[in-house]
Amino acid sequence: MKVPYIPADAPFDGDQRAWLSGFLAGLHSRLAIDGDGSTPVAATPQQQSASPLHILYGTQTGNAEGVAMDAAAAARAAGMQPVVEPLDDIDMARFATMKRVIVVVSTYGEGEMPDNAQLFWEALSADSAPRLEAMNFGVLALGDTGYDGFCQAGKLIDTRLEQLGARRMATRLDCDVDYEDAASAWVGEAMPIAATIDGGQAEPAAPAEAMALPAREKSQWNRKSPYSSVITVNKRLSSAASAKEIRHFEFDLGDSGLVYEAGDALGVMPVNNPILVSAILERLGADKDAALPGLSRPLDQELTASFEISTPSRELIAEIERRAGHDELSHILRHGDKEALENWLWGKDSLDLLQLLPSGAMSAADFVGLLKPLQHRAYSISSSPLAAEGRVHLTIASVRYTTDGREHGGVCSTYLAERAEGEMVGIFVSQNKAFRVPSDDAAPVIMVGPGTGIAPFRAFLQERRARGASGRNWLFFGDQHRADDFIYEEELATMSSTGLLTRLDLAFSRDQSEKIYVQTRMRENGKALYAWLEEGGHFYVCGDATRMARDVDQALHDIVAAHGGHSADAATTYVNELKRQKRYVRDVY
Ligand SMILES: Cc1cc2nc3c(=O)[nH]c(=O)nc-3n(C[C@H](O)[C@H](O)[C@H](O)COP(=O)(O)OP(=O)(O)OC[C@H]3O[C@@H](n4cnc5c(N)ncnc54)[C@H](O)[C@@H]3O)c2cc1C
Ligand SMILES: NC(=O)c1ccc[n+]([C@@H]2O[C@H](COP(=O)([O-])OP(=O)(O)OC[C@H]3O[C@@H](n4cnc5c(N)ncnc54)[C@H](OP(=O)(O)O)[C@@H]3O)[C@@H](O)[C@H]2O)c1
Ligand SMILES: Cc1cc2nc3c(=O)[nH]c(=O)nc-3n(C[C@H](O)[C@H](O)[C@H](O)COP(=O)(O)O)c2cc1C
Repeated sequence: MKVPYIPADAPFDGDQRAWLSGFLAGLHSRLAIDGDGSTPVAATPQQQSASPLHILYGTQTGNAEGVAMDAAAAARAAGMQPVVEPLDDIDMARFATMKRVIVVVSTYGEGEMPDNAQLFWEALSADSAPRLEAMNFGVLALGDTGYDGFCQAGKLIDTRLEQLGARRMATRLDCDVDYEDAASAWVGEAMPIAATIDGGQAEPAAPAEAMALPAREKSQWNRKSPYSSVITVNKRLSSAASAKEIRHFEFDLGDSGLVYEAGDALGVMPVNNPILVSAILERLGADKDAALPGLSRPLDQELTASFEISTPSRELIAEIERRAGHDELSHILRHGDKEALENWLWGKDSLDLLQLLPSGAMSAADFVGLLKPLQHRAYSISSSPLAAEGRVHLTIASVRYTTDGREHGGVCSTYLAERAEGEMVGIFVSQNKAFRVPSDDAAPVIMVGPGTGIAPFRAFLQERRARGASGRNWLFFGDQHRADDFIYEEELATMSSTGLLTRLDLAFSRDQSEKIYVQTRMRENGKALYAWLEEGGHFYVCGDATRMARDVDQALHDIVAAHGGHSADAATTYVNELKRQKRYVRDVY
């Protein structure tokens, strides 16, 4: 079922009204609220005005926020007053007064809350969390079945709300990467139910900014309909001697009307490597021109453009294990040992798995049936539109490794590096509203971005220069070797000499016997760093999530404790307050 898009503050046109009233009438006649199981009747104006519908979202890259905005439009259409807020803006005292709540939340890291839901979850999961008997709720979870903790954040919140006495008004929906249609359908079903729930006593007023819903700016270019752009620049930044291949790309935006802001990410639709496609076809013993039921194009084209053939799906792994009788894999799967599975899979693509079976042992139809759709990859944009008019820049590390003597390449990074020149490459902007330069141009900015993590900070610096922002800028950057990996060195030198970059602290990890990382430099300069924070500084982190971002977070806590004279607990409170004020934000992956 496709729900038409209605901007949050848009007047409805005749078609939309007709569709909505028909849809809602149909649902009212077939939906029952939990509790007494009675068929709901349409909400009276008194009921509708009794309490707002709180639509709370937790997001890292904007998908959940987008769904929340669409839900707000549907709530208005159903006669409710929606209030949309990020989860971290909600304190427990206010949360406990809410009568009708929809939570839209993605999952990040390894089954974790997205950054802007972490403080909320900390409070909700604490023993001190209030009872929520007055609340009716529904949870819409966004995730990716490729991860172990599929939709874990949504599952945790859903379970906890029930534990605290809240009543579920809609069954939780767990959405995979293709979430749009399923989420729309869920919202369409949940809204009429929410509209029939008696809000009871009025709640304390929500903050004005949450009541005044901004229009959701929907670009015509999105994941399902990307803009076809050409790459105008593809140049290697790291030296030929570097262990890494980091490249700078520029995409032409032509007359697309595609807009972005410093801090946004670009979605890129990749194309698989034809060498891998051919090798897989050979292993399957399949004809490249074969037509499979349900697929519109010849097999080789489908494998090239439609399916994830590099990273093996869970379904493929399970089926290979079933057919191959591979002792080690069988042992790992039988014991559900996630870490052992991750280690065993590290560096293996679908072809490596197929090679565990005799050649031709799996039919092309079976193989394709076990694949996931090919997904876009996200890249933090490394330009400001104020400095790179009509273009968008990316800074990408090519993923390359060798397993069992065969060269493997990351799908998107090597497509862009080797095969995309002269091609039309599908792109779209993924907004990251939480990751922006401060609106106060005078505010100091501290940026921690080793490796490709420098990308959004190049954009920030360009943005601040173009705006003539007077605030000081401090960048922590590093990679393996200064001689080979100091990307954008000249630009940074110019930014330093012109005074734009007030401080540049470098950490080249492998130029000496002991590792020097960005957090080493942070600690060395802890006193000044704390002073910048005290002067209203904003602290940003971008790059590797699993190792760097965690260690940088620890260093930040330690610095606040050491230089602010705080206990460990007080340092955590201080850092949490930075998060609450949106002065500590991350773009980590
Ligand atoms: C919000 C966001 C912003 C991002 N910004 C950037 C950015 O600015 N620049 C950037 O370069 N990337 C960025 N990324 C990462 C990017 O999206 C891709 O994940 C990355 O380019 C790899 O994609 P790929 O298609 O080339 O590789 P894939 O085909 O997806 O393969 C990656 C997989 O290969 C395997 N692998 C990787 N290295 C090895 C190895 N050495 N040995 C064995 N196996 C290995 C791992 O299983 C890994 O998961 C960002 C990600 C997100 C979510
Ligand atoms: N999961 C992994 O094992 C792994 C490995 C590499 C890259 N990646 C992924 O690659 C992308 C980013 O790669 P990139 O090439 O831009 O940069 P990167 O691999 O993050 O390396 C940049 C710099 O960070 C250093 N570093 C390593 N561990 C660190 C830590 N705990 N704290 C601070 N700095 C640390 C590296 O040093 P050294 O390399 O000398 O230690 C290097 O000097 C991300 O997607 C990341 O998740 C993952
Ligand atoms: C680095 C990274 C880690 C992720 N981890 C998980 C995970 O553990 N479980 C899951 O279900 N989805 C995971 N996802 C998928 C996201 O939840 C999914 O893409 C979602 O649509 C993102 O929504 P958002 O833009 O609102 O954050 C991860 C995505 C990324 C990029």
